[in-house]
Formats: sequence, C-alpha cells, structure tokens
Amino acid sequence: MSEKNNRVSQYGVEEMFLDRWSSRSFSPKKIDQEQINQLFEAAHWAPSSGNRQPWRFVYATDGENRKKFNSVLYDSNAMWAPKAPMLILVFAETKNEEGNNIRTGMFDTGAAWMSLALQANRMGLNSRAMGGIDLEAAYEVAGVPKDRFTAICAIAVGYRGTDEDIHPRMVKNNFANDRKELSEIAFKEQFQS
Ligand SMILES: Cc1cc2nc3c(=O)[nH]c(=O)nc-3n(C[C@H](O)[C@H](O)[C@H](O)COP(=O)(O)O)c2cc1C
Repeated sequence: MSEKNNRVSQYGVEEMFLDRWSSRSFSPKKIDQEQINQLFEAAHWAPSSGNRQPWRFVYATDGENRKKFNSVLYDSNAMWAPKAPMLILVFAETKNEEGNNIRTGMFDTGAAWMSLALQANRMGLNSRAMGGIDLEAAYEVAGVPKDRFTAICAIAVGYRGTDEDIHPRMVKNNFANDRKELSEIAFKEQFQS
C-alpha cells in the first residue's frame, strides 16, 4: 500500500478495495505480455447482461503506435499518462448487429474496468482511468467502428512511481482520496436527495 493511502474501512471490507487507488505517477519500468494478458483475463470475467461481454480494450505499449495513442490525451492527462508503460482505450458495444441499443453496455464495461483495476493492484501495478481524452480520435487510432461502439475512456497502467516520476504540477493532486458517506449513496426503501 502507498504511504499516501490513508483509507480506512468503517465496516471491515476487504483490503483490496482500500488498497486500490489511482496514482498519476508511473515508474518507467515496463510490464510484459503475461501481465497484460492477466489484466484482460481479469476484466473478461466481469458479469454482463446476457453474458454479452460488451467491453473492448485496445492498447498500445511503445513505438509509433503508442505515440498515436498518447495523442488522444487531453493536456491535463498528457502531462503524466505517457509515462505509463501501457495505455488502453476502452469501448463498449452499445448497439447490436440490428442497430438496437444495448442499454447495459456501458455499465457492464465499467464492471470489467474495475476487475482490471483490482487485478492490477493485486499484481503490484497502478491503473488510472481518464475521461479526459479526444473521443473522436480514440475511435480512429484504435480502429473501432462508431456505429456500434461507444468510446468511454483511456486507462494508464504500470508500476507506481514516486513524486519524482510525475509532472511537478500533478504532485499536489496525487494521493488516495476519500469518499461520500454511505448515507449519501445508499438508501433503505426511499431515495433521499
Ligand atoms: C471514467 C473515469 C474517468 C476519469 N477521468 C480522469 C481524467 O481524465 N484524469 C485523471 O487524472 N483522472 C481521471 N479519473 C480518475 C478519478 O479521478 C479517480 O478514479 C477518482 O478520483 C477516485 O480516486 P481513486 O481511483 O484513487 O480511488 C477518472 C476515473 C474514471 C473511473
């Protein structure tokens, strides 16, 4: 666990939920294909409506392709994410072959992302999702058809770095944050705003 992670559980949940947090700091250390396969294997065991498995992950590690993937990042993310040894673009199948909406495609893909993130953490890796990307460019660099898939976000994955591995402007925001109270998100019988 990072020394910057002060998360505590009120009701004794599994440590893995507290341990995972999204650093913006990555070490330059590479990850290998075996590790990459493990990440996607974890993701693909996520539950989905009708077992459709609507998630699609397109990734790049290095070389010219990686440069293209980096180019979809908005400036605030381009300051740190290119250092990560892997960048994943995430898409959800949101229309089927007949053109009908798959209502739960994004929800199911979120479950797969969380599986990947938890698996990464178990492997000593850090992951951070990014909505701050050029979605139009994401379809293009990944070669994903827009008519059936929805671009959602990018994910940077790699070994956690130190404050020296991160852009100075990002250091102050690089810590494990907190959460709302349970009373704000879970309600017995009636929603309350
Ligand atoms: C879909 C999604 C989009 C996100 N977009 C960004 C982003 O563009 N840039 C960034 O630095 N972090 C981004 N984050 C990271 C969140 O800010 C972070 O997950 C949240 O603050 C909770 O912190 P934790 O992951 O450390 O628990 C995103 C996370 C998710 C799940």
